[in-house]
Amino acid sequence: EKGGYDHFMLKEIYEQPKAIIDTYRGRMLANEGIIKMAGVDDNMSKFLNADRIIIVACGTSWHAGLVGEYLFEDMARIPVEVEYASEFRYRNPIITPKDVVIAISQSGETADTLAAIKLAKSKGAFVFGVCNVVGSSIARETHAGAYTHAGPEIGVASTKAFTTQITVLSLIALKLAQAKGTLSTSAVNTYLQTMQQIPAQVESLLKIDAQVKEIAAVYKDAKNCLYLGRGFNFPVALEGALKLKEISYIHAEGYPAAEMKHGPIALIDENMPVFVIATSRGHYEKVVSNIQEIKSRSGKIVAVVTEGDETVKEIADHVIEIPDTEEAFSPLLTTIPFQLLSYHIAVMLGKNVDQPRNLAKSVTVE
Ligand code: M6R
Repeated sequence: EKGGYDHFMLKEIYEQPKAIIDTYRGRMLANEGIIKMAGVDDNMSKFLNADRIIIVACGTSWHAGLVGEYLFEDMARIPVEVEYASEFRYRNPIITPKDVVIAISQSGETADTLAAIKLAKSKGAFVFGVCNVVGSSIARETHAGAYTHAGPEIGVASTKAFTTQITVLSLIALKLAQAKGTLSTSAVNTYLQTMQQIPAQVESLLKIDAQVKEIAAVYKDAKNCLYLGRGFNFPVALEGALKLKEISYIHAEGYPAAEMKHGPIALIDENMPVFVIATSRGHYEKVVSNIQEIKSRSGKIVAVVTEGDETVKEIADHVIEIPDTEEAFSPLLTTIPFQLLSYHIAVMLGKNVDQPRNLAKSVTVE
C-alpha cells in the first residue's frame, strides 16, 4: 500500500499535487472567477458579520492556521487570532456569538481541538471545521465545514494535510474577499489562475529531491538547526522545524527572521545550519540582510529562493529554487523542500520515519 515508496511519508509528499487538485476540484472555477463552498455559502452572513475569526488547532494544523491568519487578514480584511487549542480552552477565553471559530484538524479527533470547539459552541460562536477525515468527531461537532480532500494520511508527520489545509483556507479567504469586495474582481481572478498552477509547480519541485538529499547528507549530523521566514513564510519556518524534530529527533527552532537579533542570533556559529526562506516577492531585501547577518557570524545557510535568484546564490552555502507564485500561495511550495529534507535526514539517521518515537497519529488524549 506504499505504492512503491519506502515510506508512507514519502508517498504522501509525492501525492501533494493530486491532493491539492482534489481539494479545490469542484470548488474553484478559475475561468469563471467562481468559488463554491457550501459550508461558507450557507453561512455567509455569519462570516460577514463576524468581529473576528479565531482559529484553533494543534501542531501542523496550527501552523496552517497561522498561514490562514495572513490570508484572511490580507485578502478579506478580517481580524484573526490563531490559538493553540490547549491554551485557548483553559484560559477562560472571551468568546461571543459574533465570533467565528475555525477548527483545523487532519484527524478530526484531536482532544484539545474538540474541547475548544465545545467551549466555543457553549458561548454561542459559530464553529466551522476544516478536517480531512470524513465523519470524524470534529467534523460532526462543528456547525459547518469544508473537508480537505487529501486522502488518508498514514505517516505521523503531517505533509499533504498541511498543504491541503492551506488550500482550503486560501479558498475561504478569497471567497470572503469576493463577498466583502476587499479584493477587486481581477485580483481574485489572478489568484484563482495562480492557484491552478500550484499542483504542476509542486510536481516540478518534487524533481529537486536528489538535490535535497545531497543537502540532507551535509547536515544530517547537526545537533541544532534554525528555520527562518517572514510574512506568509514565517509559519513555514515553524513547520520546517517541527518536521525535523519529529522524525529525525534533531533539535530545531523556527523563528520570524527579524527576531534573530532579539536573541537567537547568539546561537550562530559554524556548526549551526540555518534554513531560510527568501522568496522574491516576500520582504526579500530584508531577508537578504538577515542572511548576511548570519553569514558574517559563520552560520551555514540553506536558502529556499525563487527561480532565477542571483543575490542569495552569491551568499548562501546552498540554494533550493522554487517556481514563482503569488507570495500568499508560496507556503504551498516552500514547505516541500523542508518536508523532503526532514525525510532524508531521518532515513539517513535510521529513524522510524512513519512512526516516530513517543508520537501518535491522532492525539485523542490531552
Ligand atoms: O489531526 P490533527 O491535525 O488535529 O493533529 C494535530 C497535531 O497532532 C499534528 O499536526 C501533529 O503536530 C503532527 N504529527 C505534525 O506532523
